[in-house]
Amino acid sequence: MTSKHKKLNDWVGEIAAMCRPDAICWCDGSRGEYDRLMQQLTASGMAIPLAKRPNSFLFRSQPSDVARLEARTYISTASRDDAGPTNNWVDPGELKATMRGLYQGCMRGRTLYVIPFSMGPIDSPLAKIGVEITDSPYVVCNMHIMTRVGTGVLEKLGADGEFIPCLHSLGAPLAPGEPDSTWPCAPLDKKYISHFPEENLIWSYGSGYGGNAMLGKKCLALRIASAMAKREGWMAEHMLILRLIDPAGKQYHIAAAFPSACGKTNLAMLTPAISGWRCECIGDDIAWIKIGPDGRPYAINPEYGFFGVATGTSYASNPSAMDTIKENVIFTNCALTDDGDIWWEGMDSEPPGHAINWKGRDWTPGSKNPAAHANSRFTAPAAQCPVICPDWEKPEGVPIDIFIFGGRRAGVMPLVHEAYDWDHGVFMGATASSETTAANIGAVGNLRRDPFAMKPFCGYNMADYFQHWLDMGDRLGKYAPRIFYVNWFRKNQEGKWLWPGFGDNSRVLKWMCERIDDTVGAVETPIGLMPKEGDLDLAGLAIPATDLKELLRVDADAWKAELSDIERHFGQFGDRLPERLRKQLNDLKKRLG
Ligand code: GTP
Ligand code: SPV
Ligand code: MN
Repeated sequence: MTSKHKKLNDWVGEIAAMCRPDAICWCDGSRGEYDRLMQQLTASGMAIPLAKRPNSFLFRSQPSDVARLEARTYISTASRDDAGPTNNWVDPGELKATMRGLYQGCMRGRTLYVIPFSMGPIDSPLAKIGVEITDSPYVVCNMHIMTRVGTGVLEKLGADGEFIPCLHSLGAPLAPGEPDSTWPCAPLDKKYISHFPEENLIWSYGSGYGGNAMLGKKCLALRIASAMAKREGWMAEHMLILRLIDPAGKQYHIAAAFPSACGKTNLAMLTPAISGWRCECIGDDIAWIKIGPDGRPYAINPEYGFFGVATGTSYASNPSAMDTIKENVIFTNCALTDDGDIWWEGMDSEPPGHAINWKGRDWTPGSKNPAAHANSRFTAPAAQCPVICPDWEKPEGVPIDIFIFGGRRAGVMPLVHEAYDWDHGVFMGATASSETTAANIGAVGNLRRDPFAMKPFCGYNMADYFQHWLDMGDRLGKYAPRIFYVNWFRKNQEGKWLWPGFGDNSRVLKWMCERIDDTVGAVETPIGLMPKEGDLDLAGLAIPATDLKELLRVDADAWKAELSDIERHFGQFGDRLPERLRKQLNDLKKRLG
């Protein structure tokens, strides 16, 4: 089969000539296709069917291929300055030559799958079409869940529609008769996750995991989309989208950017601890936002499923996620129990007496190695979420009232503060900081600046991205959402969380809603506006007064110590840093005294 689209057919032909697969398969996105691939994967020992969860499978990756790989992720633009200081850069000609060398014959012994997919509801004016070529049937199945795949997409593409070519190979060709590994991939120094934003092109090689391999997600919907959004005047953000409904039925739409593994999925599916309030989930990882005809910012979730952190997910912390993953789920790097279920650290149940850990070895409680990898994940259809918003596929999206930034900080950052105005909010986003997590291969727990939670995902110079946020605020004017900054992760001297988090985070969201409705005031502090005593709804929450005080404390000395780090952070952008942000830094300095 081929399509009616000459450019697409030519591209597939050209890639096949380079990668030399044994066969080519055009994916139709059907249930039959999914079942057939899962049967093959099960027969070859790569997928383990789970007796306890219908139509669900466990995969175990190579220990070297467990997360995104920022160190080998590239933004390749003609000029190095256009990628900016926060991205890895190689000249496009050089990078393509290197990668072409790797792609030569890389699919021998394998099938090349062509996956036409839509990011966003197919009928949405915000949607974009991509076509991923991959030699990984595991990636095909994940793409089925995470994006809208199939013939409807080819129909929309027609004979000459625009699509974003996304090339992926595991980089593990098979000689005739050579047995396959249960997780084929290439060695670290051969892995590349490359983006060519000037030509809307993605080339990924050597990794089979998550955002490295399902190219609709981080590669297209964030890195390439952010560059397109800058050119076209919209926004592509690493944000969850939720609808909060107050006891009177009033709706508030909130979009929040936290770094990887810092609480987006959990907040997106929040079960409010305050009575009468409800939450509905629209998206848990990515928001595409465009100014609507009425001047307000409208957001869609370009994805179709959740690729959520499994470790730590429980009925106590996120019951909606637990109910989402009962069937039709792909689990990766979780532990396998003897009765055919999955398990991970932090799940409600007692640890199993015996399990097979994510490396495929025997595991018993007390073992010095964890049963599940810290970045173990579930891939599940969004439609299965019990609190999915009835409007989550609305083509025009939902109007955003509130933006939240945040991160994981054991100290300094209070539970919540509000920006004085848009520019101050952009400054908060631009200086956001967080401790690194297992979502990336590298050190965990290191403090770094992760502006707008986009450091790993901005497809162009981050200083220009800051300017884009300022420009969007200018265009939005009175419809610009109010901006807040939160930290659920402040710890006490003993290293214990001061804030209970999860469902109790609704208390903080309620305060934000009251702020935008102008029904509560705020205390002016050097860093921003904060709740007045008694304004945070703490009904039914037994939190020691001293803990609350610490959560809302602004330590001027600690903040002064942050200033030099912010200077250094801004310094890397040189003249490209917007003057308006330098002014914000000076204003903060003055307020701190
Ligand atoms: P990505 O999918 O990597 O972009 O991550 P995410 O932002 O969706 O992160 P997620 O919600 O999956 O949270 C990751 C980890 O943070 C999990 O282990 C959660 O249990 C933990 N977490 C989430 N919310 C809270 C909270 O409010 N308090 C505390 N203490 N931990 C939280
Ligand atoms: C993240 O790391 O922010 C994720 C997981 O959402 S991945 O898709 O692997 O990038
Ligand atoms: Mn993410």
